This record gives sequence, C-alpha cells and structure tokens, in this order.
Amino acid sequence: MRPLYRLRQFWKAVFPCVRERERDWVRAALPPRAGEVFFSMSPAGQRHAIDTARRLAAWEKHIRSRLSAAEYRDLLQAALLHDCGKIPFRLTVGQRAARVLLKASPLPLSPRALRRCPYVGKALEAAAVHADLGAETAARCGLSLEAQTLIARHHQTPRTPAESLLAQADDCS
Ligand SMILES: [Fe+2]
Repeated sequence: MRPLYRLRQFWKAVFPCVRERERDWVRAALPPRAGEVFFSMSPAGQRHAIDTARRLAAWEKHIRSRLSAAEYRDLLQAALLHDCGKIPFRLTVGQRAARVLLKASPLPLSPRALRRCPYVGKALEAAAVHADLGAETAARCGLSLEAQTLIARHHQTPRTPAESLLAQADDCS
C-alpha cells in the first residue's frame, strides 16, 4: 500500500495547489475545449493530472526515443485528462480515501454490497466507469483516437509503450 506515498497523495488531495504557470502550461498543451474540461475538474483532480503529466514531461528525453512527436503529445494530453470521467461524480476527499483504503483492505468485502453503500458506492461506481466516460469526453473535445484509447485503457494492463508510461506516471503521482 506504500503508506508514505498514500499520505503524500492524501495531503495533496486535501490541500491541492495549482500555480498560474502550471495553468498556462495546461492551456498550451490542450485544445481549448479540452482545457475547459480540465479546469472543471476538482482542484485535487487537477493537481493529480498535472503531476502525472509533469512526470512524463520530466521523462521526455527518455520517452522521445520511443515515441513520435504526435504520440508524445497524445500521451501528455491523455495524462492531463485521464481522470476527467470522474467529474460528474463530484467525489469528496473522504470518498476517494475510503475507496483507496477499501481497495487495500485484507477483509473479504463484497464489491456488490459496497456499491450499495451510499458513501463509498459512488466512489466505486466512479472507479468502475470513469475511464470510458473520460474517453468519451476526450472524443467530444477533439482529442485524437490515440489519446482517447490511452484514457479508456489507463487502468488496464498496458499493451503499448505509451500505455505503460501513462500507467507508471499515474501510479506515482
Ligand atoms: Fe483513473
């Protein structure tokens, strides 16, 4: 469960901070409609997305030998919007934390029973469907099919170098 990482993640979710120069970076990286979607995410969601994309940007030298310029652009755009499918659920920090704890719990909890629980049920529903919803949103914003696929598959076993890089960056952001 990596307690230190989770503690840092929880802190950033409770006290998210997005700087103006980071907002500018996002505006430059996304088409206008996708930018509007990005800025409608919760502050914690924006923080996580920026951390994921910045991690990929930090790996740029290493990545660019494996991806074309278009693939790299799609990867950064997908990183910025990979969790935008969570927007309609308006989850609280507590709901997101509860889902993470339940996921790591050694107790034999029934997913069906948990989904009926009003507090965590919404978080579990969001976890189950947000990748597909996010890909649909990306399509409406004019992102490429490749970026849509990266978003749709970001919780599945990676099949391509770009999917693998997004999973790694998401996992440690
Ligand atoms: Fe996700």
